[in-house]
This record gives sequence, C-alpha cells and structure tokens, in this order.
Amino acid sequence: MLKPLTIGSLVLKHNVVLAPLAGITNLPFRLICREAGASLAFTEMVSVNGLVREGTKTLALLKSCSDDRPLGIQLFGDKPSDLAEAARMVEGYGELLDINMGCPVRKVVGTGAGSALLQEPLKIAAIIRAVRAATKMPLTIKIRSGWHCGDNVFKEVGRIAELEGCDAITLHPRSRSLMFTGEADWSHLAELKSLLSIPVLGSGDLFTPEDCLRMFAETGCDGIMIARGALGNPWIFTQLKELYNTGGHTLATTFQRADLIEKHLNLFVSEWGETIAVREIKKHIGWYAKGFPGASEIRRGANHAASIDEITTLTDKIRQTTASQVHFSNADD
Ligand SMILES: Cc1cc2nc3c(=O)[nH]c(=O)nc-3n(C[C@H](O)[C@H](O)[C@H](O)COP(=O)(O)O)c2cc1C
Repeated sequence: MLKPLTIGSLVLKHNVVLAPLAGITNLPFRLICREAGASLAFTEMVSVNGLVREGTKTLALLKSCSDDRPLGIQLFGDKPSDLAEAARMVEGYGELLDINMGCPVRKVVGTGAGSALLQEPLKIAAIIRAVRAATKMPLTIKIRSGWHCGDNVFKEVGRIAELEGCDAITLHPRSRSLMFTGEADWSHLAELKSLLSIPVLGSGDLFTPEDCLRMFAETGCDGIMIARGALGNPWIFTQLKELYNTGGHTLATTFQRADLIEKHLNLFVSEWGETIAVREIKKHIGWYAKGFPGASEIRRGANHAASIDEITTLTDKIRQTTASQVHFSNADD
C-alpha cells in the first residue's frame, strides 16, 4: 500500500500526494502539507493562455522554494500547440507536469479546457502527443470519469494517455455533470488500473485516513491524491502513515490547531503581507476550527478579523478551550 512511486524519471518517497486545489494549494499550504508528509504537491492550475500570452506575470504563480519539492505543475488549456509551448516554458520550475482534464467549472470548460476535453478524445491524444514531444518532464493527466454520467470515457482516455506517452494518470471517478455531488465511483479506479500498465492514482472522497487505506485496498491503485480531506486537517498525511503502521492514529489537539493556524498565517504574511494573509487565513480557520466546543464562535470571529492581532486573539481562545485533549467529532459544536 504505502510505498515508493515511480512516475517516469521521478521517484517519490511514497504514494500519497496532495491534489491540486485551485485557490488553496499555493506555496504556504503546500509547505504545510509536505511537513505533514505529502510526498508530492501541485501548483494551483495555471492557464496556458496566461503563460503563452502574459509570460513572466503568469510564471510568478509557479513560485516555489527548496522545501517545496518535488513540485508538480498543473496546466489547463485546450490547444495542443499552446500546451506544448507552455510545457517548454515551465521546464525547470517543477519536477512533473500535469494537464488538467477534469476541472468542471464553467469558466474553464467554457474555454474548451478541463473536463470539456473528455468530450474530445482525439484532441486529448493530440495534446498529449504535442506536450510529450515538447518536454522530458514526467507527464501526467488528471481526468474525471466522463462528461455525462455513464459515458465512462475514462477507459478510452486512459488507453490514449498510455499510448501517447503519459507517465501516470489520475482519475477522480465522478462525471463532470455530477460536479462534487454523490459519491465517487471507486470501481472505475479498479477498472482503469486493470487496463493500464502506467501508474494509476485515485482521487475522490478521501476524507479520513481510513478512506485512504480503503481506496488502496478496494481499487489496487498505485497512489492516491488527498484533496478536501487535507483542508483543516493536513495531519491526514501523518495520520495515514500512523494508521498503516500501527492500526490506529491520533487526532490533532486544539493546541496543535492553534499553532498551525499561526504558522499558516506567518507563511501567508511572508508571501503576501498582512492584508492578503488575513483574508486567506480566514478561509482556512473555517476548516481548522471544526469539531470542538466553541469552534463556531471561532469561525464567526475569523469572519470579522481584519488584522494579525485579531487572528492571534482567536488562536489564544482556541488554546484556552477545555477540549484540547479530547477526541474530535465530526459533529460541530
Ligand atoms: C476547491 C477545489 C479546487 C480544486 N481545484 C483543482 C485543480 O485546480 N485542479 C485539479 O485537477 N483538481 C482540482 N480539484 C479536484 C481535486 O483535486 C480532487 O480531485 C477532488 O476534490 C476529489 O477529491 P476529494 O473528494 O477527496 O476532495 C479541486 C477541488 C476542490 C474542492
């Protein structure tokens, strides 16, 4: 289950990685998840149009540092030649290149990119061929099961990916039409795994360490990508390792939560200064402050906070909660 994973020329220490999350997997969050044990993290998806037309301004989105490696760069676009040019531009900025073929949001599919590509397998083939010829970076694609429920193009797209030279494929087994509703159909992962010889990574509904082990066991996938399960709980990476090695795991205390909010805030401050840092950390406090008495009051307080001092008042309050050693529940206070 948990073991090293080879994707082309890249050898990962283990096969549990942080998924790309637009608006979230910026440098500060990636550093936090890496410290908790993620073996690979991705940039937020980067527009190929932006890269090709605006160049250096968009390249700034790829800012990284030595503690932030290995780094996967995720691109979205729909024109093979633009994607190939973008692939050449980002060489050296990361250790792996991923093409987004799963994003369901209208702004992206309206341009023909993301999951809209699942309606055009021939275009997918042309994109992979062009990008493969343009770069030696390990190349992956991330897809959904299909555009409509039941069209299940993932099998055809998986075969194309392997044939055209992808080094691995990630499947989030929901159709585009489902967006994030219903349950991910993990049987698609088992099916894809049985068809391909390149590594298959699974994504979808990995909210707890137990879910992660179950996905490995039920699908035989080579690796997993944790997404929403890391929001407010980057410890999920540590907890999974603990669960795998000992059969149990511990939950983060309120002290750890308060400390991590401050650390996350400081990372934001050093990237973007106080105003943006406070705005960004509020979103994360909404996730970190869950499942302990007084959590909803903390979240309300965060909504109104406008300075680092006000956030620190909240973290002090979290530390004062009597629940610092008790088990967390999924039910909120
Ligand atoms: C807020 C949010 C942003 C996301 N952004 C991206 C993205 O930029 N690129 C991508 O390939 N997937 C993106 N995803 C999809 C996730 O990587 C993942 O495949 C999906 O959430 C299913 O996993 P989960 O059910 O464990 O969260 C996003 C998901 C969410 C919830």
